Amino acid sequence: MSTDIIAGKKIILGVTGCIAAYKSAFIIRELVKRKAEVKVVMTPSATEFITPLTLSTLSQNEVIVNTFPSSQKNGTSLSTWHIETALWADLMVIAPCTVNTVAKIAHGFADNALTTLVPALRCPLIISPAADVDMYNNKITQQNIKKLEDTGYYVLQAEEGELASGLRGKGRLPEVDKIIDAVELIVTGFKKDLSGKKILVTAGPTYEDIDPVRFIGNRSSGKMGFEIAKAAYIRGAEVTLISGPSNEVCYPEIKLLKIRSAEEMKKSVEQEFEQTDILIMSAAVADYKPVSASDKKIKKEDKLNSIKLEETADILASLDKKNKIAAGFALETDDELKNASHKLKKKNLDLIVLNSLKDKESGFEFDTNKITIIHKTGKTIELPLMSKFQAAHKILSEILECINS
Ligand SMILES: Cc1cc2nc3c(=O)[nH]c(=O)nc-3n(C[C@H](O)[C@H](O)[C@H](O)COP(=O)(O)O)c2cc1C
Repeated sequence: MSTDIIAGKKIILGVTGCIAAYKSAFIIRELVKRKAEVKVVMTPSATEFITPLTLSTLSQNEVIVNTFPSSQKNGTSLSTWHIETALWADLMVIAPCTVNTVAKIAHGFADNALTTLVPALRCPLIISPAADVDMYNNKITQQNIKKLEDTGYYVLQAEEGELASGLRGKGRLPEVDKIIDAVELIVTGFKKDLSGKKILVTAGPTYEDIDPVRFIGNRSSGKMGFEIAKAAYIRGAEVTLISGPSNEVCYPEIKLLKIRSAEEMKKSVEQEFEQTDILIMSAAVADYKPVSASDKKIKKEDKLNSIKLEETADILASLDKKNKIAAGFALETDDELKNASHKLKKKNLDLIVLNSLKDKESGFEFDTNKITIIHKTGKTIELPLMSKFQAAHKILSEILECINS
């Protein structure tokens, strides 16, 4: 069993007067489901959008709205509640955060319960602003957001899309999953340490067609590659993800290129590689493909009893990896370390991630993985079973070590 990094964490959720305030209910549910302890603080405006009763019921804690407890029926009786609550927390998240609250925090105001908590914090703070497109893109708002980032707060940028006003543009609160991913990042102790880096990730299986109906594929779900792409984005990288057929979903800001065959994967990687700093090849690319694919469905009466195969081209071989970092994956069933180390050398990689199918709850169908990371220097890190998102972070941290060494 892998342990959830969020379990037992003490988290303050700040909610402000945004149309997306209802989404705070889903954030609380997810945090509580993952066994975090959640205390909610709302601005008075937020209570116009969602009731403290709802958030108190979901968080299983009293909700703080007023700075002065005597003026709040359900408030805490402690006189310095703001200091005690701030010191209690492992993390504070403000989601959604209005343009108004962004401005107040950027300028050090402490004129309501939520903004009073912020300067008292000793723990990290995640701010997830959301507003209509013009309010969000407004120059002063953008300056304030930058100020929050420069101060060291983790800002989760709003997403593009349809807004409550009917306008389209940047301003949407990210999906709950992405907010929780940012929580996981920060409670693990990571930060935006990949800012300015361009990362290319490959994921999923490839399908090699036999005829219009059938193909040779493999059991890769793409999950590991998608988690690497998401983890890299949440750590500040610009990410391109080239994926074979997969049902996984990634963040809208990740450039997703869908391919089908090993040949298409090769073409796509070659096109993207030049503008890449780091290549992570987690896709399970077919080693063999049918020499030719029939353009008509092969019928039973055709008595097909063999398919002639040829090797697919090696994607890594043709790439000039000078001044770049390249990481690969090896899935082995026997002589794991020896085979993975051999692949690392043969493909001239900086590191290789070894997946072993011998481990329970590890591999294709699982959300967890047990990996071993081998550097070209020979340094080998054997990790315990963990979520694929956590494993992705470990891989990225080792890649950072390659860059910095
Ligand atoms: C229907 C409605 C929706 C609003 N949605 C947002 C929003 O998404 N983002 C935002 O920054 N302000 C929004 N506002 C404006 C804020 O509620 C207003 O600036 C308020 O003073 C914010 O207070 P607070 O920051 O203390 O929560 C909205 C106002 C209304 C009437």
